[in-house]
Amino acid sequence: MKDLILRHNDCLFKFTFLPWDSDYFGVVSYLFDWRNSKIGSHFQGLGEFLAKGLPPDSFITAKIPSTEESTFLNLLIKCGFDYIDTGVILEMESCHLAASKKRASICEVKKMGSGTTRGIPYNELGSTFSFTRFHQDAHIPKNKARGVWINLFKNFVPKGDNAIFLAKHKDRIIGALLLKKSKLYLRRYLEICFLSVLPDFQEKGAGAALIEAAVRTAARKRAGLLVGTQFRNLGALNFYIKKGFRIKETFVVLHRWQS
Ligand SMILES: CC(C)(COP(=O)(O)OP(=O)(O)OC[C@H]1O[C@@H](n2cnc3c(N)ncnc32)[C@H](O)[C@@H]1OP(=O)(O)O)[C@@H](O)C(=O)NCCC(=O)NCCS
Repeated sequence: MKDLILRHNDCLFKFTFLPWDSDYFGVVSYLFDWRNSKIGSHFQGLGEFLAKGLPPDSFITAKIPSTEESTFLNLLIKCGFDYIDTGVILEMESCHLAASKKRASICEVKKMGSGTTRGIPYNELGSTFSFTRFHQDAHIPKNKARGVWINLFKNFVPKGDNAIFLAKHKDRIIGALLLKKSKLYLRRYLEICFLSVLPDFQEKGAGAALIEAAVRTAARKRAGLLVGTQFRNLGALNFYIKKGFRIKETFVVLHRWQS
């Protein structure tokens, strides 16, 4: 399968094929590549054109910057996209990056080497999420939404800029944070792509200890630090803001399923 390009008047729409999602959800999946598309000004007939041009039996995700005109969002909704949530990208403030120190906590945080996966509660840690865009989509069963995060964690290889930090309390792994190189901006950033603490151990400082490890790594590599969440996940949003992150960008998340 290939990426899809649709042209209409002065508009060009690029849809990137997503092999992992296609396999996991059992339907051909694309991400609307907003950055490399050209949204012209001749919207007349565009809704009908897109609705016809997009493949049947497909799952398409669109993430549109909140600054984009509502005319375009309404056009996507007219072509069968549903509003899912508003995503938030947060950036660690540079003063926090510079000043990060290891503080006392109920747990010890260690960087995981490759091949030492014993004792990691992948299923439990992947099941703490309940506000992701997959959980909010009525087309996706809850166990399938959970599986996205369990799979992400199990398949994540700690190599190069990819790192796994594990929080341990008395030899039990109670939390995990995955860090990767971000492709979102031109500036060098590391991005937290998974952060989870087991429910019985939440609100005891483990999440903060994991964030501190990520902050120290980013500072050592002279990189910025990013994390993504959604407005609906108010707990995580407030947690990140308390830990020194600031909102960098927000975007509207839309999904389109056609059968
Ligand atoms: C978000 C999460 C990682 C936080 O971890 P945690 O170990 O519970 O957080 P900590 O105990 O280290 O809390 C650190 C600070 O954030 C605050 N905080 C934690 N959860 C909060 C919440 N739900 N609402 C508001 N503040 C919160 C704490 O009060 C604490 O504040 P303080 O520094 O003023 O004392 C954890 O709740 C979790 O795993 N949630 C489910 C998975 C998830 O949503 N992950 C984020 C995906 S984007």
